[in-house]
Amino acid sequence: MPADRHAQSSKYTEERGMPGAFEGETVNRRRFMNLTAQGAGGIAVAAFALPALGFALGPVFKTLPLGWQIVGTPADFTETNYVTKVIDIVEGIGDAGKSIAYVRKRDPQIDTEPHTKYNNYIALSSRCMHLGCPVRYVQAAERFICPCHGGVYNFRGQVAGGPPVRPLDRFYTYEHNGYVYLGPRYSVNDQLKIFSPRDPGEPLNGIGQYLYPPRMSTAVLPPVTNLPAPPPIPGT
Ligand code: FES
Repeated sequence: MPADRHAQSSKYTEERGMPGAFEGETVNRRRFMNLTAQGAGGIAVAAFALPALGFALGPVFKTLPLGWQIVGTPADFTETNYVTKVIDIVEGIGDAGKSIAYVRKRDPQIDTEPHTKYNNYIALSSRCMHLGCPVRYVQAAERFICPCHGGVYNFRGQVAGGPPVRPLDRFYTYEHNGYVYLGPRYSVNDQLKIFSPRDPGEPLNGIGQYLYPPRMSTAVLPPVTNLPAPPPIPGT
C-alpha cells in the first residue's frame, strides 16, 4: 500500500503507470498535446472575442463631450410649434458631427414633467428610438414621423405608434443673457423620467434601465458658467 501511494504521487509518468509513459517524463504526450490544443484554442477565441468586446463596451466608458451651444433667442420659439435647429453633437468633424434638434417653448398646460431651469424650452432629438433614422416633424398632424419603419411620436415626443421602444431623446436647455442654449442629450422613459443617454433600441421602462448601460460614464450637466459667448450681432 505505501508503495502504491508513492507510485501514484510520483511526478514521473512512468512511475504512475500511465499509458505511453517514457522514463524521466513528467507529462505524457497525450496530455501535452491536449494542453497545447486547448491553449491554441483559447488564443484563437481571444483573438476574435476581445476586439468584439472592446468594440461593444468601449463607448460605455467613453465620456461624451458636454457643452452648451446657442440655438436662438427666446423670440424664435413658441409653445405651439417646433423650430428645426442644426446642432453640433460631435465637435471638430464638420458636417458629419451635426444633427437636428426640434425646439419649442415649454407649455405648462401639457408639459407636466417637473419644471426646472433646464427645461424652459423642450428640445427633442431627431434620432428615432427604433434604429436611429431621422424623424421629421409634421405640424399639421403635430406628430414626429419616422420614414424608415413607420414610427410615430406625439407632440411631446412620446411613442404614438410603430416599433420605437421609448420617447425621443431630449437636450437640456437654458436661457441666459437673451439667448437660448442647448446642452447635453439625455434619454427618457415613457413617463418622461430622465436617464443618462442611451442608444436607439434600448427601452428604459422596468428592468430596461438596468439592462442597457448609459453611453457615458457620468451624466453630469456642464456648469452653466461654461456658456459660450453669444454670437456677434449682425451689422455691428
Ligand atoms: S428607425 Fe424609426 S421606425 Fe425604425
